[in-house]
Amino acid sequence: MLTVLSHPLIDIKLTTLRDKDTPPHDFRRTLFEIAGLMSFDVFKFLNSTQISVTTPLETTDGYRLAEPAPAIISILRAGNGLADAFSALLPEAPIGHLGLQRNEDTHNAEAYYEKLPRNIDSRQIILADPMLATGGSAIMAVDRLKRHGVKDMVFACLVAAPEGVAAVEAAHPELSIITAGYDRALDENCYILPGLGDAGDRIYNTV
Ligand code: PRP
Ligand code: URA
Repeated sequence: MLTVLSHPLIDIKLTTLRDKDTPPHDFRRTLFEIAGLMSFDVFKFLNSTQISVTTPLETTDGYRLAEPAPAIISILRAGNGLADAFSALLPEAPIGHLGLQRNEDTHNAEAYYEKLPRNIDSRQIILADPMLATGGSAIMAVDRLKRHGVKDMVFACLVAAPEGVAAVEAAHPELSIITAGYDRALDENCYILPGLGDAGDRIYNTV
């Protein structure tokens, strides 16, 4: 299921990210801010447990995160930009990393690293990667997490292409995809149009 977020602040900040003249330090800061705004929807599925809390005046009902805490999984390397912002709001969440890199010729994702929190199979998962282009990286990430027994996860991205969303929906129909932007198409190099370019390079100022 695809959710395209609609909010003036998200739209304004996504425009800053799209702008080719936005320098890396502004790109990183804006990415952090937009992820914070997205978290309102991204965290909606999290389970909480009812507790009682005593205010200075009386005792009332309150909530805490259900245990075990959810985990944030970053698809390296651009996913770290989103994961850092989600982690700031959910510091209890352990952070896992899946190293996936698109092959520049085939555009297929290739895995090079994996480090996941323990008890991953009993945690809710927020999977973070700014770009959903062909969908190959997202599909591979979800495949790997499912192999570890993960059942409940949401995929958060900044920009998604229709081709990638269709591919992910075909492979993982139950997955919630939350994106700040739903773009037109992929170009001949499988970059998203209009997109924002190479997210990793823009975050880390590499070429
Ligand atoms: C980018 C992006 C996604 C992937 C999306 O990563 O962060 O992981 O491409 O493309 P897809 O949907 O076609 O798989 P990239 O492989 O460029 O690696 P990087 O984050 O290390 O730059
Ligand atoms: N990866 C990116 O970083 N950007 C795209 O447009 C496609 C894949």
